[in-house]
Amino acid sequence: ETSAALLMLWALVGYGLGSVPFGLLLTRAMGLGNLRDIGSGNIGTTNVLRTGNKAAAALTLLLDGGKGAAAVLMARFLAGEDAAQLAGLAAFLGHCFPVWLNFKGGKGVATFLGLMLALAWPVGLACCLTWLASAALSRISSMGALGAALSAPLWTLVLGRADTVLLAAVLAAVVFWRHSANIARIRAGTEPKIGEK
Ligand code: G3P
Repeated sequence: ETSAALLMLWALVGYGLGSVPFGLLLTRAMGLGNLRDIGSGNIGTTNVLRTGNKAAAALTLLLDGGKGAAAVLMARFLAGEDAAQLAGLAAFLGHCFPVWLNFKGGKGVATFLGLMLALAWPVGLACCLTWLASAALSRISSMGALGAALSAPLWTLVLGRADTVLLAAVLAAVVFWRHSANIARIRAGTEPKIGEK
């Protein structure tokens, strides 16, 4: 049993890590313009790609995923499995609702994939492959995200990690909510394809 105070601490550490908006910081540092004025205005990998700089997009994916994984691995190593789940969730929420950006953050996809890879790697891997399949079929990044999120709770059950099904369901619900503008564009047929501005 991890004490409530320790869990609170790991929630804070996770949130702090997750709230670092790497896409925004990188594009600024590299002089690629203001992400808020580009494409969807989002701070994530897909929108960084719309600057035309693939290296910046790859780095954003790695760092936004990495912060979710780091939160899980640090908490697991120092405080156990409950703390790991909580820190992962907190990192995801930190990315979506960072205090530094008036709580207007990203959509959580890279951080969700990174934290799931660290928490239960077969589930994380299955989610990444689902992202790839769904994005390849549709050529739309947000379709990849929605497919991966929807599949996550199912993968936890299929792959014998029912202990993470609740977390996966919460992550999926928030990913869907954060993609409401994308869903409206998909329905209207106006969501851009990957690589389009
Ligand atoms: O991960 C975010 C992606 O699913 C959609 O990004 O910029 O097209 O809204 P964007």
